[in-house]
Amino acid sequence: MRQRPAYTAFAAVYDRWCADVDPARWGRYNVALARRHGFSGGRVLDLGCGTGLSTRPWVGVGDAVLGVDRSPQMLRLARRSVGRRRGVRFLRADITAPGLLRGQTFALVQANFDVINCQTREHRLLRLFRNARRLLAPGGCFLFDVVTAHAYRRLLNGVSVFQRVPGGALVLEGRYREPPGLWQGTVTFLAAGRDGHYRAAEERHRQRHYSPSRLRALLRAAGFSRCHLYATLTFRSPGPGTERLTVVARA
Ligand SMILES: C[S@@+](CC[C@H](N)C(=O)[O-])C[C@H]1O[C@@H](n2cnc3c(N)ncnc32)[C@H](O)[C@@H]1O
Repeated sequence: MRQRPAYTAFAAVYDRWCADVDPARWGRYNVALARRHGFSGGRVLDLGCGTGLSTRPWVGVGDAVLGVDRSPQMLRLARRSVGRRRGVRFLRADITAPGLLRGQTFALVQANFDVINCQTREHRLLRLFRNARRLLAPGGCFLFDVVTAHAYRRLLNGVSVFQRVPGGALVLEGRYREPPGLWQGTVTFLAAGRDGHYRAAEERHRQRHYSPSRLRALLRAAGFSRCHLYATLTFRSPGPGTERLTVVARA
């Protein structure tokens, strides 16, 4: 079976796949959290915007919204779903590239839903954090989420997930190795053909776990001095059973 890069074949069914995590609720939470940390309008940057699910909640909240992603397939869908609204733009780029969007500033920078964990090399994550720091206007905040070790161990390790999606089905399978804190998996899209046969397109996905202390150290190295951790979708501190953390960092 032909292997494709992450977020190519998956793009077409990504929004359906995400329906269970209720992106609209997650978006409202991110906006509320940003406001709690002083956001009151201005330009918003969505790093790893994908199909625009995480960009959409900021339309009309931020003065202008820019989504950046490296996957042309994800961006095509983002442009189709959100792109015609005023003040919204999308750009294809590597969010870890030094000099990304040089000269621009934003009141809020976010990286929502596994984008941080997708950076499997620590030096690349540090470059992403440095970009976020450099692109923040004075008083701005950087908001992102990460998967916890608990979730990788308990929910994403050796468990196959099957979901029917329009035009076929998706199968997600993966293993978490600790050390080195790496999750490797495949997403297989089974597309139903008219002849009754299924055609499989397989993508390899890799993620790295970053502990709260490692994140704090990398954020400090990137120039952030304050950092607040929440159990995602709550305003509470994370506990041992937390599956996802949301981090708000400020200079
Ligand atoms: C799980 S999706 C999240 C999409 C969106 N933020 C959301 O909440 O639905 C992760 C996205 O990050 C993008 N991504 C990961 N690493 C990237 C990088 N270094 N540069 C640009 N995009 C990246 C992928 O292409 C993918 O679209």
